[in-house]
Amino acid sequence: MLTIGFIGTGNMGGALARAAAKEEGNRLLLHNRSPEKAQKLASELHAEVTDQAGALEADFVFLGVKPQMLEQLFSGLRPLLAERDQKPVLVSMAAVTSIRQIREMAGCALPIIRIMPNTPVAIGQGITLYACSPEVSEETEETFLRAMAASGRFIRSEEKYIDAGACISGCGPAFVDLFVEALADGGVACGLPRAMALELAAAMTAGAAGLILETGKHPAQLKDEVCSPGGTTIRGVRALEQGAFRSAAMEAVLAAYGK
Ligand SMILES: NC(=O)c1ccc[n+]([C@@H]2O[C@H](COP(=O)([O-])OP(=O)(O)OC[C@H]3O[C@@H](n4cnc5c(N)ncnc54)[C@H](OP(=O)(O)O)[C@@H]3O)[C@@H](O)[C@H]2O)c1
Repeated sequence: MLTIGFIGTGNMGGALARAAAKEEGNRLLLHNRSPEKAQKLASELHAEVTDQAGALEADFVFLGVKPQMLEQLFSGLRPLLAERDQKPVLVSMAAVTSIRQIREMAGCALPIIRIMPNTPVAIGQGITLYACSPEVSEETEETFLRAMAASGRFIRSEEKYIDAGACISGCGPAFVDLFVEALADGGVACGLPRAMALELAAAMTAGAAGLILETGKHPAQLKDEVCSPGGTTIRGVRALEQGAFRSAAMEAVLAAYGK
């Protein structure tokens, strides 16, 4: 039985806890600043609510608080960690916070896995970039990946790529939401009922992305395959190019990275 603690069960921490709950053999310990949030999630997932010290008893401890809250959180965690002979593996999902910074705030050497997940982990379709501190053994990494397998895909990365990667995987769901909403608006403008237009747009987006991942084909090739000469699709592609669609998508990633 593997014990997994969550400190901070908000949007992302909660989504990862939902994924962890799907794997048999994971025992979940949840702690949140406002206890009712942890309590509600615990009832849904048949997990246990605990305090800060209780969460640190776990084998893996996810830190699900906002980056600006970490310093304050660690002022409470530091003495508790110092007392423990057997240190847990800390799993940090905080944006723009390096393994070195987490290590400094923790005040002792311990294994740290830095992850950059996204909200689709809640439905098993997430993509999580991760990097490990030198204290994380191969066996620990494998245990971690098995425990979180229900969240979706994982890509191990050098830590230097995590912030830029987050601008696609972490911010991307919002960009895609905008795209899907706009396609649905176009459908409504053509006379489709709103619900049908939205379902078509969302399912098509998921399917088109799945095709890229499963076939391994370059998106430009897949686009060429559905654009017959003088046909309807190439007209739509031209309209997107006139609206500088690709430039807008690139700039969205760069704008997020700039922040
Ligand atoms: N959302 C995303 O798509 C996404 C993607 C990748 C990474 N992340 C990272 O995930 C982390 C959490 O983001 P979020 O969007 O999930 O934020 P969120 O919904 O605001 O969740 C943060 C949670 O932490 C709790 N909390 C704050 N201080 C605490 C403390 N000292 N002890 C215990 N719990 C505490 C809050 O409790 P209250 O209920 O009392 O406020 C809240 O439930 C951030 O570091 C963010 O960078 C988020």
